[in-house]
Amino acid sequence: MKKVLVTGGAGFIGSNFIHYLLEHDPAVQIINLDALTYAGSLENLKDLPDPDRHVFVHGNITGRELLDQLFVEHKIDTVINFAAETHVDRSIHSPGIFVDTNVVGTYTLLEAARRAWLVDQIVPLEEVRFHHVSTDEVFGTLTRDEPPFEEDTPYAPRSPYAAAKASSDHFVRAYNITFGLPISISNCSNNYGPRQFPEKLIPLMVLNAFNGKPLPVYGDGMQIRDWLYVDDHCDAIIRIVKNGRDGETYCVGGDNQPPNIEIVKNICEILDELRPESAHCPHENLISYVADRPGHDRRYDIDITKIENELGWKPSHDLRQGLVDTVKWYLDNPEWVRAIVQQSDYDSWVQTNYTGRKA
Ligand code: NAD
Ligand code: DAU
Repeated sequence: MKKVLVTGGAGFIGSNFIHYLLEHDPAVQIINLDALTYAGSLENLKDLPDPDRHVFVHGNITGRELLDQLFVEHKIDTVINFAAETHVDRSIHSPGIFVDTNVVGTYTLLEAARRAWLVDQIVPLEEVRFHHVSTDEVFGTLTRDEPPFEEDTPYAPRSPYAAAKASSDHFVRAYNITFGLPISISNCSNNYGPRQFPEKLIPLMVLNAFNGKPLPVYGDGMQIRDWLYVDDHCDAIIRIVKNGRDGETYCVGGDNQPPNIEIVKNICEILDELRPESAHCPHENLISYVADRPGHDRRYDIDITKIENELGWKPSHDLRQGLVDTVKWYLDNPEWVRAIVQQSDYDSWVQTNYTGRKA
């Protein structure tokens, strides 16, 4: 892991990963390829530790020519593929781009890696790894009593987003089995933390509550996600890339499964404590139950036994403390919030989304 091509490194997890990797690995060089969609921003790459070891390239993972050039020019030995369309609601509204980026983009990246590593052999094969960052949503949904997802749980995606990610996972495994491309996959649960685009539950609730806007809770608010602080995810990926076995999948989760409404109420309580002078206290009064997301997965839960036993990884952040730190981060970074809201179609999206009725 010397010359790493990180795709989607201007997004939420990718940018946190770059901060984390530069901090924890004194030798690595990072080439960050990102198309700067609405979800990506150079604001996320300000204040990188040791920025000379990071090169930003504005481009698309569906662009084969650029990919071929980057592999050769930088002698890439590791790919970490974060680039994706990631928001389930958007995949209900406009599924096509999810196929373009998540399926065709991943396939194009695999083809470029195959060419560089297996055909042209630009670096020794034993030094390469293609790591694909995936999601627990490929496994579908759990009822209240079903056991958690694990690595061999059959795929059963239910949203266009999850279907596209599932397809990309299958391509990655197929390139390992058919061509011998060294790969690994991580299927991770919901991340939270700094720099998350404020369409996702936690930052959306923080900013809406802070601004006195309604907090739209889908359905009965009793859906369950398994929340993981983003730095824990970054640590898991590094361990998998460095020491995980070729061809393997690792499930990654936070062991935190409160219902959505509890997360929202927690955020309100934290804001009440941090901003007791606000005219919007108690923030909980802003909660507004709205129509449910179509096909809404009810519950996720992830079994992390494999990564814990093989790689000694487990989550290290407490959910309540992680939420406090996250809320503080958004309050302490109004410039980031302003820039993100200005550069994207944020306002029009959060007011209309797929149902045309949010907030
Ligand atoms: P994000 O939406 O915040 O960022 C995605 C990034 O990819 C953006 O910077 C965007 O500009 C870039 N991008 C999009 N299309 C591109 C393309 N065609 N070519 C190059 N760059 C492109 O996403 P995130 O939440 O940081 O998620 C990163 C990865 O982790 C995704 O693959 C996602 O499926 C996976 N994942 C996310 C979560 C989560 O909770 N957010 C959990 C598990 C897995
Ligand atoms: O599980 C991993 C996945 O987590 C990732 O693969 C996805 O990229 C990521 O977006 C996330 O998907 P979710 O759909 O779980 O995240 P979201 O933040 O959109 O929603 C979290 C839960 O909160 C979900 O049950 C829907 C609910 N929700 C969401 C929003 C935006 C609301 O009740 N109100 C809202 O306004």
